[in-house]
Amino acid sequence: MARRPPAVEGLIIDATLIDDAMFPKTRMRRLRQPGIRNLVVETELSINDLICPIFVDETIKKPAEIGSMPDQYRFPLDRVADEAKEIEELGIPAIILFGIPETKDEEGTSAYDDNGVIQQAIQNIRSVTDDLLIITDVCLCEYTTHGHCGIVDYDAERVLNDPTLPILGKVAASHARAGADIVAPSGMMDGMVRAIRTALDIDGFTDTPIMSYAAKYCSCFYGPFREAADSGYAFGDRSGYQMDPANSDEALRELELDIDEGADIVMVKPALPYLDVLHRVKTTFSMPTAAYQVSGEYAMIVAAGARGWLDQDQAICESLLSIKRAGADMIITYFAKDAARLLTA
Ligand code: PBG
Repeated sequence: MARRPPAVEGLIIDATLIDDAMFPKTRMRRLRQPGIRNLVVETELSINDLICPIFVDETIKKPAEIGSMPDQYRFPLDRVADEAKEIEELGIPAIILFGIPETKDEEGTSAYDDNGVIQQAIQNIRSVTDDLLIITDVCLCEYTTHGHCGIVDYDAERVLNDPTLPILGKVAASHARAGADIVAPSGMMDGMVRAIRTALDIDGFTDTPIMSYAAKYCSCFYGPFREAADSGYAFGDRSGYQMDPANSDEALRELELDIDEGADIVMVKPALPYLDVLHRVKTTFSMPTAAYQVSGEYAMIVAAGARGWLDQDQAICESLLSIKRAGADMIITYFAKDAARLLTA
């Protein structure tokens, strides 16, 4: 409510004195008063924007906390439905599943086993809810012994792009058969979206959308995830297939290819260090755009929050709002449950 300022004794306002030299014409603070502030708000975070990751581990019996991601757990198969139900009851519309399989091999074959960890997890979740959207991460790094996102030539220490494509197609189709609503390829192989679209269409899943991790940077902020998903690599790094943090024109070229190949939703990842890229992507393509607030972004806020160096709840809200303001339509975040509670409090 606008309030009249208290009269200052001795100050007589003479209209002839009100000129540009004395008073700014526009006072930004007029619209920052309580009440008015809410009327002019430009960006709002909604619970409908949130996607909550779940790690499903075929090798454990009890939920296991992830050391570098306090309060985040790997769930055994028989607990994943409970977790999904809890997420749904908080009002969050979607989850994204990551699997830690019992067996790994050089080609990641357990990733497309119809009885694999993700496929079973989807069925378990579907037995308790029809409405929660299930997105699956489609990648090989959790399923290969060497931890790379494609099959490799050991001698050359190289990831082999093209031979990986049909495998990714099989993984996506197998997820769709199990009941996935959206598949999300994250391996940054060239041509992966086309390969997956083809495999899905041939299997009759013409209506299953692809959310492509289109601009995925080669980032140290994935560090905690690799502990969470047991996907550290045996040699080299991922700079041969993930993007150079120095580049943003290149992100637009990546996007163009993925859209051309059939991506329905595009993603920028990580989020906060790449808000400029997110903004360019959204304004250039006007595509449904997702951002991934990754494990390292989570770890930083939680670590500072635990020491009392930051107000954790405010940091969660401010970072998510910034990601939205930059252009994200949806956000994958380990803070999804916290944000849902804060938004409905
Ligand atoms: C798999 C994948 C990764 C992440 C999501 N999918 C790891 C990587 O590429 O090394 C990272 C997510 C996070 O850090 O939260 N390719």
